Amino acid sequence: MAKKEINDLDMVHWKDYDDIITDSLWIINKRDNSGTHKGDYHGNFIPQIPNQLIKRYTKKGEWILDAFLGSGTTLIECQKLGRNGIGIDIDEKILNIAKERATNEKGNSKLEFIKGDSRNIKIDNYLKKYKIDKVNMIIYHPPYWDIIKFNNCKENLANTNTLQEFLKGFEKVINNTTKYLEDERYLAIVIGDIYKNSEWIPLGSHIIQLMLRKNFILKSIVVKNISETKGKQNQKAIWRYRALLGGFYIFNHEYILIFKKPKERKKKNVKRQN
Ligand SMILES: C[S@@+](CC[C@H](N)C(=O)[O-])C[C@H]1O[C@@H](n2cnc3c(N)ncnc32)[C@H](O)[C@@H]1O
Repeated sequence: MAKKEINDLDMVHWKDYDDIITDSLWIINKRDNSGTHKGDYHGNFIPQIPNQLIKRYTKKGEWILDAFLGSGTTLIECQKLGRNGIGIDIDEKILNIAKERATNEKGNSKLEFIKGDSRNIKIDNYLKKYKIDKVNMIIYHPPYWDIIKFNNCKENLANTNTLQEFLKGFEKVINNTTKYLEDERYLAIVIGDIYKNSEWIPLGSHIIQLMLRKNFILKSIVVKNISETKGKQNQKAIWRYRALLGGFYIFNHEYILIFKKPKERKKKNVKRQN
């Protein structure tokens, strides 16, 4: 059987794709502010992240789900790249901003904006509306546990009290949403480690372990630089002082974890012989 294509790259001309990153270290120092992208939502990611992922793991006209849509960066990229998109966020206010930005971007993609909790939201009716039963890629950019207070809503994963609670919540999101992903297609999780009570909390490693336990296939761990977050703006000197004093290094990176959903193996009906 022929290998199913997962993107529009023409491998006869593979040398021409200068815009596609294939290294696991992404140093991107300038955010793409073109079109309706703004970068004003504390905790957003740079458009180059969904742009790279979408070009690499989907074809024109395919469907992408973003389970933590925020200000809509992924769906703006869907418009630009001719993909269709579904975005979910628990926060209605940011969802409306996402909708305004993504629909005002040039393009004629089909886009859906759903207010809900990704741990239990059902999207079957949205899929039915477009006569599809699965999406072709999922992007997850959850809160990095509690480092940013997005809002007071108790369903927000940023408002979980313990690491275990945060990871449980994220696991529920994975259980609830990956059933909508086509087999043998890709998902990407954008996550950073955090520093709390004088200790490095390796959120990235916890999430890799969680996904491996669920039998997803790890395809890549990309390390991406974070040049200057809003939280650390103008605080370079104090962070350097704290780091020198406290024996730790200042975060300058986050992860883009890429997994493939395995082909569902039918359970064999094996009868036990006594
Ligand atoms: C890191 S931000 C995503 C930013 C987004 N990539 C962007 O570029 O704007 C995480 C988002 O997840 C949302 N969120 C947190 N818990 C959620 C949940 N249980 N279900 C759906 N969305 C949730 C927050 O409201 C927040 O907007």
